[in-house]
Amino acid sequence: MTILVIGRQGQLAQCLGAAGRKDVVCVGRPEVDLTDAASLARTLDAVQPKAVINAAAYTFVDKAETEAAASFAVNRDGPAELARLCAARGIRLIHISTDMVFDGEKAGPYEPDDPPAPLGVYGLSKLEGERAVAQACPQHLIVRVQWVFSEYAGNFVRTMLTLAQTRDEVTVVDDQVGYPTYCPDLAAGLLTMADTAVKPGFDRWGTYHLAGTDETDRASMADAVFAASRAIGGPSAQVIGVPTAEYPTPARRPLNSRLASTMAFRVFGLRLPDWKAGLNKSVRVLVPELAAKSGDKTKG
Ligand SMILES: NC(=O)c1ccc[n+]([C@@H]2O[C@H](COP(=O)([O-])OP(=O)(O)OC[C@H]3O[C@@H](n4cnc5c(N)ncnc54)[C@H](OP(=O)(O)O)[C@@H]3O)[C@@H](O)[C@H]2O)c1
Repeated sequence: MTILVIGRQGQLAQCLGAAGRKDVVCVGRPEVDLTDAASLARTLDAVQPKAVINAAAYTFVDKAETEAAASFAVNRDGPAELARLCAARGIRLIHISTDMVFDGEKAGPYEPDDPPAPLGVYGLSKLEGERAVAQACPQHLIVRVQWVFSEYAGNFVRTMLTLAQTRDEVTVVDDQVGYPTYCPDLAAGLLTMADTAVKPGFDRWGTYHLAGTDETDRASMADAVFAASRAIGGPSAQVIGVPTAEYPTPARRPLNSRLASTMAFRVFGLRLPDWKAGLNKSVRVLVPELAAKSGDKTKG
């Protein structure tokens, strides 16, 4: 059984590819483009997967505010076409979505059936993508994820370590809370979900959340990154916590991003390990990699 991953260079696609499974095939641009229906059909017919994991998306949250057409093309229209093609071929579709479909006003963690209310274009394009996938492909799993980090591609941990190479202080919001999620653990969880979804008789289609379970805020997460880096002689900086209200960005972020994974854990027998173990692994890879790249940019 082959699992086709749409995406190759992205953080999640790389982690799915690195999971050590011979039956996982990652195909990204230029071979397959979500805005090119023919490339999707061609790839499905060439690979003939039992399941597809769509790990590709337009992920520029702030730029989406001024690039709505691109955001909707990749996050809604592409997945809609992919879903139609999968349904016509009897292929199960696992489509990745985001905490940013919520406004963050809820007091507790979000359940999959809580009403969405995105704060920006990116969140809205992902929400409309979810709806299009659900409508076009009954055998779907929509999996919302959040605060994903790793040693792969661009993410919060890499950004913090890069900033600390040249700065003594970094300003980070301290009132946005979430569940950090180590991407290789997320990838392993998604592969378990795919393996389960292709079993005969599986019928628990629908929307799930899959994330870590330990709550933190962005400033505390930055502190944890620098503590892990200091422990191995890497760069660190003092974290200056500020409220989101004092750190305006083109797209508003939810103050509460916590996604409750209880349903996914129960239906698929999953549990994601403590994110701090993943943080230490990420930092151990990233610190030497960034040092090798930085040349003379590092602070004295
Ligand atoms: N990272 C997070 O914290 C986070 C949080 C919530 C939800 N998510 C969701 O998780 C999923 C994976 O995110 P990620 O962190 O892996 O993002 P990422 O590192 O930004 O990767 C996104 C990938 O999508 C590909 N892509 C963009 N437009 C495409 C198109 N038209 N056709 C084909 N591929 C295209 C990009 O390909 P190129 O390499 O060719 O540019 C890139 O490899 C996304 O659905 C995202 O919305 C992520």
